[in-house]
Amino acid sequence: TVLDPDPERTAQRSVRVPPGVTVFDSASWNGIAIDSTCGGHGTCHKCKVKVEGSTPITRHDVKTFTREQLDEGWRLACLVNATRDMAVDVPPLTTRPKAATVGVGRQVILRPAVQKRYVELDEPTLADQRTDLARLVGAIDDLELTPDLHLLRRLPTVLRQADFKVTAVVVDEALIDVEPGDTTKAAYAIAFDLGTTTVVATLLDVSTGTPVAVASMLNKQQPFGGDVITRISATMMDPEALGRLRSAAAETLATLATQVCTEGAVDPAQVYEVALAGNATMTALALGIDPEPLGVAPFIMSTAQPPDLLAMELGLDLHPRARVTLFPALGAYVGGDIVAGMLATGMDRDKRTRLFIDVGTNCEIVVSNGDRILSTAAPAGPAFEGGAIRCGMRAADGAIEVVKLGASEEQGVELGVIGDVEPKGLCGSGLVDAVAELVRVGLLDASGRYVADDVAKEIAPALADRLTMLGQERVFVLHRPTPDAEPEDCVVLSQRDVRELQFAKAAISTGWTLLLEELGLEHRDVQQVLLAGSFGSYLSAASAVRIGLVPKLPVLRIVAAGNVAGEGAKMALLSVRERAGAQALLEEVTYVELSDRADFNDRFVDQLGF
Ligand code: FES
Repeated sequence: TVLDPDPERTAQRSVRVPPGVTVFDSASWNGIAIDSTCGGHGTCHKCKVKVEGSTPITRHDVKTFTREQLDEGWRLACLVNATRDMAVDVPPLTTRPKAATVGVGRQVILRPAVQKRYVELDEPTLADQRTDLARLVGAIDDLELTPDLHLLRRLPTVLRQADFKVTAVVVDEALIDVEPGDTTKAAYAIAFDLGTTTVVATLLDVSTGTPVAVASMLNKQQPFGGDVITRISATMMDPEALGRLRSAAAETLATLATQVCTEGAVDPAQVYEVALAGNATMTALALGIDPEPLGVAPFIMSTAQPPDLLAMELGLDLHPRARVTLFPALGAYVGGDIVAGMLATGMDRDKRTRLFIDVGTNCEIVVSNGDRILSTAAPAGPAFEGGAIRCGMRAADGAIEVVKLGASEEQGVELGVIGDVEPKGLCGSGLVDAVAELVRVGLLDASGRYVADDVAKEIAPALADRLTMLGQERVFVLHRPTPDAEPEDCVVLSQRDVRELQFAKAAISTGWTLLLEELGLEHRDVQQVLLAGSFGSYLSAASAVRIGLVPKLPVLRIVAAGNVAGEGAKMALLSVRERAGAQALLEEVTYVELSDRADFNDRFVDQLGF
């Protein structure tokens, strides 16, 4: 529940987050603002929320709350982990913040490109014949302003209708509009994470840094294929496809823009800026640029930095002069979404050795040692999205996302299913969990093969009967809809599924192993692993370690980073300095191409086992 002083506006939101994420991060990822000046580090004692049910009390809680408040459930949101279904009351913000918490604990001082200035101008007289524009510009002397034709068309009428009391709208020093009266409190922008599968929009109040509404939907380009390669191929086979893909992207963005404006009760004409973070292919398709060179060796982008454009050129019906700022890309497969992610995680500002992995069909990897930053891309294939997996599915209702194998008959197989419904299939995190658990109990050997029946009976008697044949293939039955269901009617993990996952994880671990070696580092030198993206954030850290998807480190060093591309886009809207930081990353990060390395195949084979 998000409480508001106006009882009419108290809103109830239900959100889903990976287990273990703090309530503070859960709220921030879902566009719910909680008071803070320390960015979730447990030092400002401002992030007060009321949690239903029994919740551990930390020493910081004891310092912040009275005994009664603690009994009522008041806690500091950044110190409460979401480990179960929770009801949390979030009070309204007490202060108008000058900084916002975005990304992975980043505090951003507000310096948005969108600025509004309310001015009361002297009316012209025969003695004061300054032009309307000179009169307006003269009243705002701290900014170098360049007027826009749209503004000039409106200026004479608006000034006179509003008795020369107006608000100037400035975006990056361009004077784009003038509005009657004082509208300084209505300054909005939309951050888009244009994903291949899912697109997320966050409407931001840039004057306070507060998210107003968040919406997401499947990318309408889905019918052209689930991944970037199939969409690029579609444009190569059909000359009409590029136009249709561009329209599908535009429709997706426009639908979400309407949705967030309606939900936030914001006039779309008061949205003055848009930031868009997408991979190189999604960006090219949204702009109508031929993506073919991205899909064939040597994988060349048309440009690393697409020019800024007007939102209307992307089909968005916002302020007619609303600008779109696009993130630069490092390579055909380390795109603007990853640059945005690096911004959100502060990869260039942390002295620690950190590994950033955005797990997906194309997996992007970044390693930083506080001095140098290297990045690469690893083609992991569709396994994590449920593709090429016998019972694979997207992370939707009915997908098994957590698997625990018990030692006893009663414990058997414990499944976590999205939506708490009858299991229908296995999503990426369920796949990783299932394999990790089967390795742990010994039903999969180090080479990834199911063990023989007699060995299974000996080491895991309670589970052995779940190992069976389906056609020519050995499978492990995860869920039987009825006790006597045939294997083909069950949710199973086949030997081939295990192989698919082995290839995917070997591609990724070869990537980070080689990057660490380039920096002269070993696995144990990594101080933090950030698992990003809609899939990566939901992975169980313990399972990721067990199968070797990430270095063998204590699980506390492995952090679910959330939708960092969207967070980076928000940062760019809230601060022109941060936006410049994203540009600087282009110079700071070295892109390493792995596919032409002579030792790649040998290293890949080394990484296949568990
Ligand atoms: Fe500062 Fe929680 S955000 S103490």
